[in-house]
Amino acid sequence: MKRTHYCGEINTQNIGEKVILSGWVHRIRHHGGLIFVDLRDRSGIVQLVFDPSISQKSYSIADTLGNEWVITVEGKVRKRPEGMENPRIPTGEVEIEVNDIIIENTSKPLPFNLWSNKEIDETVRLKYRYLDLRREKMQSNLIFRHNFILALRNFLSKNGFLEIETPYLIVSTPEGARDFIIPSRLQPGKFYALPQSPQLFKQILMVSGFDRYFQIVRCFRDEDLRADRQPEFTQLDLEMSFVTQEDIFNLIEELFKETLKKTLGLDLEIPFPRLTYEEAMNTYGSDKPDLRYDLKIIDVTEVLKDLPLDFIKSTLEKKGVIKGIPLKNILPSRKEWSTIENKVRELKGKGIMWFSLEEELKSSISKYLDEETKNKLKKYLDLQPGDSFFCIAGDWKEVVKILGIIRLEIANLFNIPKKEGLSFLWITDFPLFEYDEEEKRIVAEHHPFTSPKEEDLPLLDKDPLKVKAQCYDLVLNGTELGSGSIRIHKREIQEKVFSILNIPPEEAKRKFGFLLEAFEYGAPPHGGIALGIDRIIAILTNSNSLRDVIAFPKTQSGTCLLTGAPSDVDPKQLEEVHIKVVYPEKED
Ligand code: AMO
Repeated sequence: MKRTHYCGEINTQNIGEKVILSGWVHRIRHHGGLIFVDLRDRSGIVQLVFDPSISQKSYSIADTLGNEWVITVEGKVRKRPEGMENPRIPTGEVEIEVNDIIIENTSKPLPFNLWSNKEIDETVRLKYRYLDLRREKMQSNLIFRHNFILALRNFLSKNGFLEIETPYLIVSTPEGARDFIIPSRLQPGKFYALPQSPQLFKQILMVSGFDRYFQIVRCFRDEDLRADRQPEFTQLDLEMSFVTQEDIFNLIEELFKETLKKTLGLDLEIPFPRLTYEEAMNTYGSDKPDLRYDLKIIDVTEVLKDLPLDFIKSTLEKKGVIKGIPLKNILPSRKEWSTIENKVRELKGKGIMWFSLEEELKSSISKYLDEETKNKLKKYLDLQPGDSFFCIAGDWKEVVKILGIIRLEIANLFNIPKKEGLSFLWITDFPLFEYDEEEKRIVAEHHPFTSPKEEDLPLLDKDPLKVKAQCYDLVLNGTELGSGSIRIHKREIQEKVFSILNIPPEEAKRKFGFLLEAFEYGAPPHGGIALGIDRIIAILTNSNSLRDVIAFPKTQSGTCLLTGAPSDVDPKQLEEVHIKVVYPEKED
């Protein structure tokens, strides 16, 4: 018996036809001397009826079936009797009158109920991933992922892009994470790195004249994992020659417009809004702000600078700021103010000053407030009765970062409604470098191949931390979806950037000599971007974790619970690759 249809395809047009279906037993019911079986495959569910007066043999076999057994049946499509239709499923008007059945395989009782609405322990789901992936949500996530990637490929191919594969066994490409490394058997003591991204290869492809490249590509980063990070993840990576930042923005906006229309029927508004890095940090305290919330950060240094408080004086002496967030129509209780204050302290802030405008202005610093300052503050913030405000004083970056996090906590705490839909946003004008306080050195804000803004080139020598980059991020609903930049394509500038990053010339030559050399053979100006596919799919399918949109993901500790990776290997394998394991000493 060879399958003729998928279960979910059967409808009233098939009535009277003989069909052969294969799938999993989803549900069994005995009723009125008949056996009803819901048969499931990836397309959906259809009802089978086993009637002893049609086939006694099939009825007897059906009587032995268990959930999730695999069967093939042959039968006739008929209309369900009046009143027995099920409007909740697309095949609900028909059923299959079975006259032959084969049991392809049985199934043990399942370790968890696949069809319950209750939350299932994720470690169990990941251990039995083959069962978990039978669930409707997981099937629809992976089908959506396929459709979305297909739409991306079609869009890019139509727009003159070529998909070119780049190698997985490479030398290290710095993207700010640790590499996964692979020992070489043929060259003792030497290692490949798995790519953190195809960054350098795509630049080399531009030197080769491919002009418009893309790749749906796996990237590998050995970093601490979170809900929006996996050690291996997929990027839509692309690069173009002879383009400006504007060209890349247009392309990506058109790409989302078309793919979201094709996959979700959405009419996306383009162009996307833009904020510079500085505006984003000042107004939302984050370089990936969620603009679905209207809460904005306001600077009140000018208004509160003369308060007779020591910590304000010392903040201002150190060129610090006082910034806060007005809360419209919200008067937090004392307890809620202390919840906010505790969160600020957890984030290493020193505390908050709060102000609530009831009949009169109440504040945590009432005794230091004269009438004039109160009025100034009310006017400056346009505070109306029923509104409140809190602020913190300190170093600019610390203050905005704390407020950026607290902003989202507040939205949760007071159930502030968020705008519906997708909120895309470009962040532009990042600094080229930042100072890493822990490592006490200048590091690249994006990666070392990002071009400085033309007009800032003279600052490279004088004041590198002031140099702005031709670099941009794409943000969706408060998540960083992608990053890109116009690249350096001249050897001298690339060498200068390496030297500012404290990479000695010999090391630069050893690690990136091939790129520097390629730049000397007619490298065109070029730029590009990479988008995190897993993150996009997770947001578009309303999934809380990347694990729900990747077929075989890893846990927080980088384990594949299905296969047990990472695992011990045969000592012989280690010998072949010239590796000896030295275990870390156990801590007591
Ligand atoms: P970047 O390092 O910003 O840029 O990565 C681009 C996008 O990839 C996604 N991403 C991840 N997704 C899941 N798990 C991870 N561990 C992870 N790390 C990154 C994010 C991120 O925005 N070569 C440059 C791009 C370029 O300049 O063209 C790069 O890789 O969505």
